[in-house]
Amino acid sequence: MKKVIKNGTVVTATDTYQADILIENGTIHQIGHNLPSNDAEVIDATGKFVFPGGIDPHTHLDMPFGGTVTKDDFETGTIAAAFGGTTTVIDFCLTNKGEPLKNSIKVWHDKSKEKAVIDYSFHLMIGEINDQVLEELPTIMKEEGITSFKVFMAYKNVFQADDETLFRTLLAAKEHGALVMVHAENGDVIDFLTKKALELNQTDPIYHALTRPPEVEGEATGRAATLTGLADSQLYVVHVSCAEAARKIAEARSKGIDIWGETCPQYLVLDQSYLEKPNFEGAKYVWSPPLREKWNQDVLWNALKTGELQTIGSDQCSFDFDGQKSLGKGDFSKIPNGGPIIEDRLSILFSEGVKKGRISLNQFVDITSTKVAKLFGLYPKKGTIAVGTDADIVIFDPNVERTISAKTHHMAVDYNAFEGMEVIGEPVSVLSRGEFVIRDKAFIGTIGGGKYIKRARYGKTLETENNSVPI
Ligand code: URP
Ligand code: ZN
Ligand code: ZN
Ligand code: ZN
Repeated sequence: MKKVIKNGTVVTATDTYQADILIENGTIHQIGHNLPSNDAEVIDATGKFVFPGGIDPHTHLDMPFGGTVTKDDFETGTIAAAFGGTTTVIDFCLTNKGEPLKNSIKVWHDKSKEKAVIDYSFHLMIGEINDQVLEELPTIMKEEGITSFKVFMAYKNVFQADDETLFRTLLAAKEHGALVMVHAENGDVIDFLTKKALELNQTDPIYHALTRPPEVEGEATGRAATLTGLADSQLYVVHVSCAEAARKIAEARSKGIDIWGETCPQYLVLDQSYLEKPNFEGAKYVWSPPLREKWNQDVLWNALKTGELQTIGSDQCSFDFDGQKSLGKGDFSKIPNGGPIIEDRLSILFSEGVKKGRISLNQFVDITSTKVAKLFGLYPKKGTIAVGTDADIVIFDPNVERTISAKTHHMAVDYNAFEGMEVIGEPVSVLSRGEFVIRDKAFIGTIGGGKYIKRARYGKTLETENNSVPI
């Protein structure tokens, strides 16, 4: 059935205007004033913003990690994402050395199909480069539409790849038109500092942060940027947490290196002191990279404002406090890294960013949706509100006040890292390809209704691979 969203304020990365939106067959059919509504369902958006659906470029759903598996899977994780105004997630498909990449991708398809309630796509982890991997990559890009490769510079003896692997991945990405993503921390130095701390019986959660100081993130970010320049390739740095790393990205950009940076809500509003909470509660706040000293928050906000960082990912990687985070009692290195963020990504950026005047409303849309779509080959099908695009739409009340809490969130975990935080602004209704997933703050979507999305190559549009997208 046709739908018409009436009387809302449409916000894109560049414009803010009053208009009605007519949705037909899952796409936006018309935008204008006083659109006829005789044979359409009318959705009143008076007093609300109408945003393109959020795109979360960084999730780990149903992922084995740290001796356990993340609590949220593609069902609970995407339901929570939808409640928060996200209509597409790009999840990281892990791979195993020596195994064909296509086997790992099948595992990720099996985890997600018939579960996701919103659209989704995959990035592919590259842990080693050899003839078999080099041969598989172009086929995977074409057949699976996976056009971004992730290299971990940390997690020694688990995910960490060496510099040769990173460099050769950058070269392959250049050749085939993919975007390389890095987790930028110096894993060798962290491994040494961790062993040393444990020898000294420094076992509490705070030592997680103290053994991964900002210098190891800055160093790895600078190294990855340099290798990107040398390969004349393109790079996206995930979860930038500190001034050191943001500065390395800005320096590289000023030299003309094609490098982009993502930060996450936790680094914008939480700080290192949370790791010192008593009774092991600090474990709730263990991320890699770790939370930083508070002054870094201003640097990150400023980098979002100036465009030196361009996106925000949730890095959703949720573990229960009881039974999962507790694996690290008496040894901080065994605390599973990560937290539940997928639901509150937009709320926090809107409340702390737009409402507090740190970023503009249009920047908010760019950071949470448009830029992500452009970088990861989803634009213009997703990431904006325009005739012909998927009707992935968020109707957002900019004035409602709410307190974030595990008691009311929809993630499958037993705590919320932002417990008690007051935010202004909340999605009221969320549509995925023209169908309600959330209606008046209630889930009415379809389990398995989310579609796997094949993405275009770096800098290209989905419709015709010959069309370029200026990012
Ligand atoms: O602590 C984190 N960030 N956990 C998720 C895995 C990763 O490194 O992104
Ligand atoms: Zn028509
Ligand atoms: Zn990471
Ligand atoms: Zn991550």
